[in-house]
Amino acid sequence: MLQQNVSLKPYNTFGIDVTAKQYAVFNNVEELQTLLSVVDKSNILPLGGGSNLLFTSEVYNGTVLKNNIKGIEIVDETIDHLYVKAGSGEVWHQFVLFCIQNNYAGIENLSLIPGCVGASPMQNIGAYGVEIKDVFHSLEAYHIFDNTLVTFGLNDCDFGYRESVFKRKFKNQFIISSVTFKLSKTPQFKTGYGAIREELENMGVQELSIRAISDAVINIRSSKLPNPVEIGNAGSFFKNPVVSFTHYETLKTAYPEMPGYDVFEDETPVGKKLAAGWLIEKAGWKGFRRNDAGVHKLQALVLVNYADAKGAEILDLSTKIIEDIYSKFQVRLEREVNIIGA
Ligand code: FAD
Ligand code: EPU
Repeated sequence: MLQQNVSLKPYNTFGIDVTAKQYAVFNNVEELQTLLSVVDKSNILPLGGGSNLLFTSEVYNGTVLKNNIKGIEIVDETIDHLYVKAGSGEVWHQFVLFCIQNNYAGIENLSLIPGCVGASPMQNIGAYGVEIKDVFHSLEAYHIFDNTLVTFGLNDCDFGYRESVFKRKFKNQFIISSVTFKLSKTPQFKTGYGAIREELENMGVQELSIRAISDAVINIRSSKLPNPVEIGNAGSFFKNPVVSFTHYETLKTAYPEMPGYDVFEDETPVGKKLAAGWLIEKAGWKGFRRNDAGVHKLQALVLVNYADAKGAEILDLSTKIIEDIYSKFQVRLEREVNIIGA
């Protein structure tokens, strides 16, 4: 049922108080289809957990369609793999826990990422050495204008670092209704990234398991990232930028302690990924606050809303950071968070 003038404050993890002109929840594709037949299709926002967007106006003039498609099923099985299909409105972390409970391996490193299953392919979510593309099999998506349900395989999605075809070529054209993951019966533990090994040791883990890895990732994340329930945020606000080797060497000479990681294409190193959090901290922004908009005290890559910041204030802060990082390091930061205007 369509509702008018609904506050979206509870539905976005930044906690921005924005009013949606129209709002409705859909529980399946048929309900979605019915809603699409009565609204202005040119101004629609599919909403999952609202953990990767920033509303910058006080009113969103279109229709927000909150996804509540549930259900998890095994759709195929081979000797080594299980194909698990999840409704796009399933909460991502609940889905991860379900897989761990049942010993389906592959997404344990992606524990505790907020949001819903349906948004996970949008930016090819990633953490601690794993991205969705590593376990992705296919997805079904409803074409808003053609009224058809289309299946996308791995090669159709053009996954990249925090990128997919749904953020580019097919932006605002599809609503993802389900995602099928190819999970393993025999786990291949990925403990090489960041502090996972150290945390497993601290936890006193003797025998590795997907649950132990999940617990380690949860512990690390909880100590590093602000909990949106306590302080409004959408995770990393910017992507980590990739620069040429020459640019990297120039910066490294000036700042020998600066972190940098090789980026590969077909196993060939093509550039260096820098830590945007490091650049922002080095530029002096960590802990910065103006009114209720700020840069987190412990993680400079996360912009925060202390209470009543307007989306426009956070956007403005992000623009100032982009300009300052460019002037200091000649590196252009790109926003990871989706900016939603009027
Ligand atoms: P929303 O914010 O609701 O939507 C994001 C975008 O996708 C919007 O443009 C929306 O219109 C669109 N969309 C949503 N659902 C659909 C659908 N079914 N069909 C079509 N379009 C849709 N991300 C990472 O990759 N790695 C991390 O480690 C990580 N850590 C985070 C930590 C914190 C504390 C927070 C707050 C966020 C973090 N994020 C991280 C970002 C975020 O959690 C992910 O991007 C997540 O996938 C967003 O899911 P969502 O359901 O909240 O999407
Ligand atoms: N750093 C600083 N100062 C800071 C923050 C970070 O110097 O204030 C340095 C750290 O010391 C480290 C480097 O930057 O050397 C990288 O930091 P960290 O390991 O915390 O990771 P990140 O680059 O900040 C990325 C992802 C996260 C993901 C983690 C773990 C992006 C944009 N962010 O964060 O994803 O969870 O790695 O894999 O790629 C998200 O996308 O929302 C997100 C949280």
